[in-house]
Amino acid sequence: MQAEQENIWASAESHSHAPNTSNQEQASTQENVVGLGKEEVKKALKPSGLDKLRIEGGAVLKGEIPISGAKNAALKIMCATLLTDQPVTLTNMPVTLNDIKTLAQLLKHIGVSVLARHDKTAVLHARTIETPVAPYDLVRKMRGSILVLGPLLARHGFAEVSLPGGCAIGARPVDFHIKGLEAMGAKILIEDGYIKATTEGGLKGATYTFPKVSHTGTENLMMAATLAKGTTILKNAAREPEVTNLADCLRQMGANITGDGTDTITIEGVESLHGATHAVMPDRIETATWMIGAALTNGSLRLKNANLDHLTALVAPLEKTGVQIEADGNDILVSRSGEKLIGTDIMTDPYPGFPTDIQAQFLTMLTLCEGAGMVTETIFENRFMHVPELCRMGADITIQGNSAIVRGVEKLKGAEVMATDLRASASLVLAALVAEGTTTINRIYHLDRGYEDIVGKLGNVGAKIERV
Ligand code: EPZ
Repeated sequence: MQAEQENIWASAESHSHAPNTSNQEQASTQENVVGLGKEEVKKALKPSGLDKLRIEGGAVLKGEIPISGAKNAALKIMCATLLTDQPVTLTNMPVTLNDIKTLAQLLKHIGVSVLARHDKTAVLHARTIETPVAPYDLVRKMRGSILVLGPLLARHGFAEVSLPGGCAIGARPVDFHIKGLEAMGAKILIEDGYIKATTEGGLKGATYTFPKVSHTGTENLMMAATLAKGTTILKNAAREPEVTNLADCLRQMGANITGDGTDTITIEGVESLHGATHAVMPDRIETATWMIGAALTNGSLRLKNANLDHLTALVAPLEKTGVQIEADGNDILVSRSGEKLIGTDIMTDPYPGFPTDIQAQFLTMLTLCEGAGMVTETIFENRFMHVPELCRMGADITIQGNSAIVRGVEKLKGAEVMATDLRASASLVLAALVAEGTTTINRIYHLDRGYEDIVGKLGNVGAKIERV
């Protein structure tokens, strides 16, 4: 019972004050708890900065993997709770991910009471905004923190958010977020590494055309526009399913949004938003990672609580490579149809194109295909850091500009490798699963940012994997 009442995010450091848990929230902790057990949660929350993964290659993945709620939907939806003074309940939350815990910490710093339960439900209550500031230390840990800017400005009229700066996969500026908010009447100053934003008399509806499709840019402006006066039209908007999942939550909260899922989103501002209950969509990138895992290891997996509709850009090249994919209700069944996988080309593009977040994993699969395949990255300028590590395991890859030419080899060999970013790390795990011998992956804190219980999930389907 003690475990059931535990707030999984209680350890999120509070900078300003203790969480202010309402009666409703306290009552909800006593509901029937299913999902992660106490030990699993403890393991998942354990500081893992120095941990390594040791994987013995050669296992064939067979069985079921439950897919977690999507990190890249949950993060934005958590920020959306800043738009109302009422509690918002979120289900299917990937509560143990490090990025989610970092954001919970930031929201707590701002004044939000945050509660996460073992049944993957979270209750966030932004009764008041106490400190509309996102400090460098937290933004540095997780770039997604920039998503508090739009909601804080819309609700509070003032926000200070540290500039995220570049990261391993590229420079990743946030100028579209800033220009879009300026178009809505915000006054923005960049000072001492911070974006300092204010509004006089609130944000006003505007039309903003993104110079280039931006996933979080679209989300930040869409959230800000919900409380602006008048109509906002976002053109050349991102069409990712996570944008639609966020729009669904905002609509539940009383927002008036149409056109999400297309490149033009229209938001009619409303006076205020209210509490709601909303389910986070399944993680399409985690799903894709294990689909490729089944193909690579010649295994067969049932991926539970997933959505194949979000992965059409992956299905075509996977089938071309020789993989069988079938939807069965909310599950996806994946297995390999032939002896050998066959090389094919992919090019990343904004949704509905091939996701940049699956590029590294797909590239790993190509290393063992018959023939060759070309991978072209068009979203981020520095997203081939997995390539030298894969080459150390015996892969044959040549980089030319923003393309990687992958020539299939007979086998990969276990080695000591270094994880460099989240998806690059996932690609190394996949490589290790099929490599001959043992692979040790260093710096796996990247994986803990975006994959829940990776050791448990892969271990359950036959992988020989341990955290050391
Ligand atoms: C989101 O990043 C995801 N992050 C990324 O997931 C994902 O790789 C990316 O979208 C593309 O799908 C979250 O959802 C938290 P963008 P985001 O703005 O929104 C340029 C993962 O592994 N740009 O769509 O930051 C930018 O440099 C991660 O989970 C500007 O020039 O990406 C890039 O070249 C990594 N100015 C392109 O646009 C801006 O103001 C697309 O970036 C904004 C973006």
